Amino acid sequence: MPFNNRCSIKGTYHPPGDKSISHRILILAGQAIGRSQIFNLLEGEDVMNTLKAMKLLGVRILKKKNKYFVYGLPPGGLFQPDKLIDFGNSGTGIRLLSGLISSNNIEVKLVGDKSLSQRPMRRVTEHLSKIGANIKLKKKLFPPIKLKGTGNALPLTFNIVIPSAQIKSAIMLSALNTKGIVKIKEFKSTRDHTENMLKSMGYNIKVKEVSKYRFIEMRNNKELKTINYKVPGDPSSAAFFISAACLKPGSKLIVKNILYNKTRVGFIKTLKSMGGEIKIISKKKVNNELIADLKIEQKKRLNSTTLESIQVPLQVDEIPILSIAASFASGISVFKGLKELTVKESNRLLLIHENLKKIGVKSKIKNYDLYIYGDNNLKKGGAIIKHNDDHRILMSFFIANIICKKNNIIKDKSCVKTSYPRFFKHVSQFIN
Ligand code: S3P
Repeated sequence: MPFNNRCSIKGTYHPPGDKSISHRILILAGQAIGRSQIFNLLEGEDVMNTLKAMKLLGVRILKKKNKYFVYGLPPGGLFQPDKLIDFGNSGTGIRLLSGLISSNNIEVKLVGDKSLSQRPMRRVTEHLSKIGANIKLKKKLFPPIKLKGTGNALPLTFNIVIPSAQIKSAIMLSALNTKGIVKIKEFKSTRDHTENMLKSMGYNIKVKEVSKYRFIEMRNNKELKTINYKVPGDPSSAAFFISAACLKPGSKLIVKNILYNKTRVGFIKTLKSMGGEIKIISKKKVNNELIADLKIEQKKRLNSTTLESIQVPLQVDEIPILSIAASFASGISVFKGLKELTVKESNRLLLIHENLKKIGVKSKIKNYDLYIYGDNNLKKGGAIIKHNDDHRILMSFFIANIICKKNNIIKDKSCVKTSYPRFFKHVSQFIN
């Protein structure tokens, strides 16, 4: 039995490869003529679906030992696939590849699983239609996406109002085969791995941040260079163990090679604002991404916090695990502006609220703001968790066992394979 009231989190932990970067390096290496090499690629189902999609589009990808070799095609050179492309559970995969395909003269049908088939796609396709792609959605909103790309995409200026790196990256990928200058204005900064990777591959891209806005300018006058890329550890996966280590007395966790990009580690700032002891031991910059080793020690109990909506995109995937931390922190925590959580792999806002209630924590949702009434006492637990096959809800409420008197019941744990196939192995290794 891994969990009891006295467990602590100890050891030296190497998080799995970052999911967002794994998707992007497969796609961008697939657009650089020649051979790129990838190390530490996340072998979760979402990323493997992107890999299969790139192969169906004509890119040769081989695995030898623990390395992936990608033989890229020139932008605009994707092959016409002979069947539909299935992205499983992955919003990132289907949205990013819609962007890439939209400026290629091919016709494809993109599909997904039950959850993905209920997620909004017009937020991406409304932009891609403007460059000249012909796109049809189920009920004008959802996958399947029937997409007929154009070999003659228009260079436009885009305003992105919904804070979404997936929308931004889809447009950026469409720009790879667009003649002229493509300009993007983001109203709230989101993860910037596509920008960083393009810079590392010699692409002509300018990025400027002015207060909360980000301006991107892409000039299509330089070829993408091949790259050797070691995927850093995923902060969104590490968040489960980092949060657990901040909660349990006696914890001491060293985290190695974690991606420490400021658009991804908002949750560390939040945990620190609650009193979490998280220190950077060392950091370095590789391929325009900051990578760090961290030390987490539990020295005192956590206090509540308030998160403003502008900070949400910087920790959008970590709100479920932060809600567990807030439950065990004294005082009322408020997470503001969580509308985007309602359109993730599940309606995460609702599931967090319902499951907190089940394990014995009071919470309230008001205008997409989540209030959590926390204290430092163990919760009753013993609940049947409703996760709707959402990996992050499942993993968060599994970690919640460490703050419960009785373990909760989680049926069908297979969805962790989408982002973190070795989650339970790591649980048994680091939580004892
Ligand atoms: C991702 C962006 C985020 C995030 C998702 C991965 C990405 O989605 O929730 O898990 O890799 O671009 P949005 O950009 O739609 O918020």
